[in-house]
Amino acid sequence: MNLLITGGCGFIGSNFIHYWLATRPTDTVVNLDALTYAGNLENLKGIDNRAEYHFVKGSICDRDLTADLMRAHAIDTVVNFAAESHVDRSIMDSAPFVMTNVVGTQRLLDAALQSGVRRFIQISTDEVYGALSLESAERFGADSPLQPNSPYAAAKAAADLLARSYFRTFGLPVLITRCSNNYGPYQFPEKLIPLMIVNAMKDEPLPVYGDGQHVRDWIHVRDHCEALDAVIHRGHPGEVYNIGGGNERPNLEVIHMILDLLDKPRSLIRFVKDRPGHDRRYAIDSGKIQRELEWRPKTGFRDGLKATVDWYRENHGWAERIVSGEYQDYYRRQYGNA
Ligand code: NAD
Ligand code: TYD
Repeated sequence: MNLLITGGCGFIGSNFIHYWLATRPTDTVVNLDALTYAGNLENLKGIDNRAEYHFVKGSICDRDLTADLMRAHAIDTVVNFAAESHVDRSIMDSAPFVMTNVVGTQRLLDAALQSGVRRFIQISTDEVYGALSLESAERFGADSPLQPNSPYAAAKAAADLLARSYFRTFGLPVLITRCSNNYGPYQFPEKLIPLMIVNAMKDEPLPVYGDGQHVRDWIHVRDHCEALDAVIHRGHPGEVYNIGGGNERPNLEVIHMILDLLDKPRSLIRFVKDRPGHDRRYAIDSGKIQRELEWRPKTGFRDGLKATVDWYRENHGWAERIVSGEYQDYYRRQYGNA
């Protein structure tokens, strides 16, 4: 197969490229990434000189570039990871979210249509479904209504609807995946788990929004990659597949586990002002992908979290380099009260 991976220098995209070239070493992977603050070429170290791998710096908003790449490399499968991905940033400025997540996806869909690809995988999120209450036992199914609450989630939902329309109107073989919160190596330390690990390692405060009882369904990024493999090989165009870890945890419980793994005191925790519009709970019903594509998550949370903490310990320099500069300023502006 010849794959065009967009956003392959980010967290999930880089894990996916490592996974793919390890399991299918003769396939061709073209990685198109704009190298925003979240894109890091260091994440591809070790495979960047392989003949099957090509990196191109550029944006999914550049329709001519993406169409040329699809033609030049005879791309049969597009996996669109490229996005602005952080909710807090979307609250500060939603413009780049609309540009990349919505306009970029529309242009990439156009290029794919023009080039006649066999599969277009739109990587989406459970956040498009909005929030569940702590009291309910409800989970998001693939046909739950889209009720996004943050500008990030709204832009992702808009992209999903465009992707759906390209299937219905033009017959482009689009498959949409909606995954819950990922964790694992190479995650930018602005998201909950890596931020808490990196701060705790330096004995710095851990900012917890609101009461810390917000629930997320955590999945190891490796399990997400395996789910995408199943969707690429066995999924049906026009379908939506929800991917979840079956692992709902309140934020505070996750933070306590991280502190225990690092042997750090709970006194590092600081309760700070809540995020505006903060979604209370996400929970995913992965029944459809489990039944139809025979996928299920394999990584237990305790083991996955321990491996992740170990990775951040061993790759201290990676995190140091990535948090220096821009992110630090952002962090100080936003959570100076931490
Ligand atoms: P990330 O922020 O770590 O990486 C995003 C990557 O996209 C970066 O390498 C960045 O440089 C690149 N990029 C941004 N704008 C671009 C553009 N215009 N053109 C080309 N490249 C561009 O994000 P992530 O956490 O790896 O998420 C990847 C995808 O998975 C996103 O679409 C996100 O919505 C989705 N998702 C993430 C999670 C999660 O828990 N992280 C869960 C479900 C779905
Ligand atoms: P995050 O990793 O930003 O993912 P998302 O908001 O897309 O689910 O946040 C996960 C949860 O952790 C969410 O409930 C917000 C909370 N959170 C904190 O309490 N403190 C923090 O510093 C961050 C980044 C997140």
